[in-house]
Amino acid sequence: GPLAAALDALPKVELHCHLEGTMRPSTLVELAARNGLRLPTSDPTELYRYDSLDGFLEVFWTVQSALGGRDDWARLAHESLLDSAAHGVVHTEAFFTPARHLAAGQDLASVVAGLDEGLAAAEAETGTRCLLICDMDRAFGPEAGRQLVEELVALRRAGSPGVDRVVGVGMDSTELGIDTRTYLPAYDVAGAAGLRLTGHQGENSPASAIAACLDVLGLERIDHGVPVLDDPELVARMAGERVPITVCPTSNVVIAHVVERLEEHPYPRMRAAGLLATVNTDDPALSDLDLGKEYAAVAAAFGYGWDDMVRIALDGVEACWLDDSDKRPLR
Ligand code: ADE
Ligand code: ZN
Repeated sequence: GPLAAALDALPKVELHCHLEGTMRPSTLVELAARNGLRLPTSDPTELYRYDSLDGFLEVFWTVQSALGGRDDWARLAHESLLDSAAHGVVHTEAFFTPARHLAAGQDLASVVAGLDEGLAAAEAETGTRCLLICDMDRAFGPEAGRQLVEELVALRRAGSPGVDRVVGVGMDSTELGIDTRTYLPAYDVAGAAGLRLTGHQGENSPASAIAACLDVLGLERIDHGVPVLDDPELVARMAGERVPITVCPTSNVVIAHVVERLEEHPYPRMRAAGLLATVNTDDPALSDLDLGKEYAAVAAAFGYGWDDMVRIALDGVEACWLDDSDKRPLR
């Protein structure tokens, strides 16, 4: 309808989006063929199927495996920004998760240089800007995470091409059986180097794990944060300090199955509690999504009108990591 079209065009900020999760199915098929990766099926629509978070993560890892080197990262990043800009995204802070590629022999400098090359080209074409967040893959453990951050910090010191685009560090992948506190050494190194700190928590872990992200790790933003309302003290603190939560409502339904239907998602109660809870896509290409669709779905599910959605978009600006002077033109 007309609201959906207006929300697609509304200038928006995306703060929770995995670049690998934006890979076009056709690009996956091409890169897999070129890099000798056998896909479970050659039908693009069959590829992005899963029925649980674990099943999703396997698809995600297949997509990651298709990225064979610098040029592939550049292509992914370029297409990703073109696709998000086509749906009103004007600024994005996007994750990349290179643990698998580093283990396979790629070097971080090439990954970052490739991403920067593709993003710079897309920025010039669209005017949409993209900063990068280097995520630790928790499936590889906290020591691999710390080593990744050390490498990133070394690249910053060396002035490696494109590394200034990487403004923050995060963590993603599985939450089960992970002791959040074991990521303190990694985040300590990142924080000391002046990197911004975020992390996935509360996709399928309890509110206590979110609290540990703030209390122990010193994170300044939380990705997902779904069960935050279970802890009123945590809510009061996060609302009072305007700690951003990058919520991905549709992803929580179709990927993690936190709730069965979008209408049951706690998002409107999070907002009503005064939390700075933004709306994001997570892995749009793997869930038939874009940020325009996500805004329209949120409006329909929770009965939000245009003014509510504009407020949500402005919350995205508040939550992003641009300087105040760079935020001003987005308001
Ligand atoms: N990596 C990409 N998407 C993810 C998700 N929804 N949860 C954890 N890790 C991810
Ligand atoms: Zn995510």
